Amino acid sequence: MPRKFLRLLSDNPFLLSANLERIISNREESFVLEKHDVSTTVGILAGRYTGLPHDLLVKRFNYKGFFHFLAKLVFGSRAQHLYKINLRLWEMGLPVPEPFACIELTWKQRNSFYLSSVIENSMNLVHIFNNPQLSKYENIACLLARNVADWHLAGAVHGDLKWSNILVQENPDAMSIFFIDLDQTKLYGAPNIAGIIKDLARFYRNGLELGAEAWVDSKFLPEYMACVPSDIKNRIDVDHIKDKAHKDWKKKDRRRT
Ligand SMILES: Nc1ncnc2c1ncn2[C@@H]1O[C@H](COP(=O)(O)OP(=O)(O)O)[C@@H](O)[C@H]1O
Ligand SMILES: [Mg+2]
Repeated sequence: MPRKFLRLLSDNPFLLSANLERIISNREESFVLEKHDVSTTVGILAGRYTGLPHDLLVKRFNYKGFFHFLAKLVFGSRAQHLYKINLRLWEMGLPVPEPFACIELTWKQRNSFYLSSVIENSMNLVHIFNNPQLSKYENIACLLARNVADWHLAGAVHGDLKWSNILVQENPDAMSIFFIDLDQTKLYGAPNIAGIIKDLARFYRNGLELGAEAWVDSKFLPEYMACVPSDIKNRIDVDHIKDKAHKDWKKKDRRRT
């Protein structure tokens, strides 16, 4: 855990789990909710509340029943796992938010928490795609492809590369990409072809769900293939990826209905 923050966290009564629970359940104005569902609650906690010089991303993993809780208590929470993998990736210089801390489960504390930096001035890719005014993002395919390829070439496999798990940050002179929601991320010593195919198929499937198949097909995938060396390119069958994405999409739809 970055030492500077560890001290701040233990000194900071606002970051005790009981206080975080209160802030979230009372929907206090210092907490801006980003997402809430049965598994997770995610939001941004204002720095003015904690006295820290910056805002904090707070992700709460919600209690999902006694046996699930018991397993996480014994084997470690999702928050702890997320913190550890995020730290490894961040230390390697990969584009992920800086991890600050996790708050583990106890018998009394049935939700775990993960705290990280907030990617300022950013939007996830779904929001960008759904906003027709954002035409300036048209050239994003090249930047995104470069980042996904570098991620894969470093030996990382995201494991859930949907569009909402990709943040695009707008800086005064350029845009940057960040990967989030790294629960299922794995880090290998070398590029992992099976993992790369899985990531690309997940990305493609989400593109299908969002009605962005043409963009993925004609812009993103060619750019991605141009960014990877030929020994890897030769082992990636784009038609297989598309086929897998279509099949997974149908399967998921069938499960829903
Ligand atoms: N570090 C961050 N900085 C800015 N926004 C974030 C950050 N982490 C998450 N978000 C926003 O919150 C949303 C949900 O976060 P995520 O970690 O993907 O939760 P979930 O596991 O529920 O999908 C993201 O799609 C993104 O819009
Ligand atoms: Mg997510």
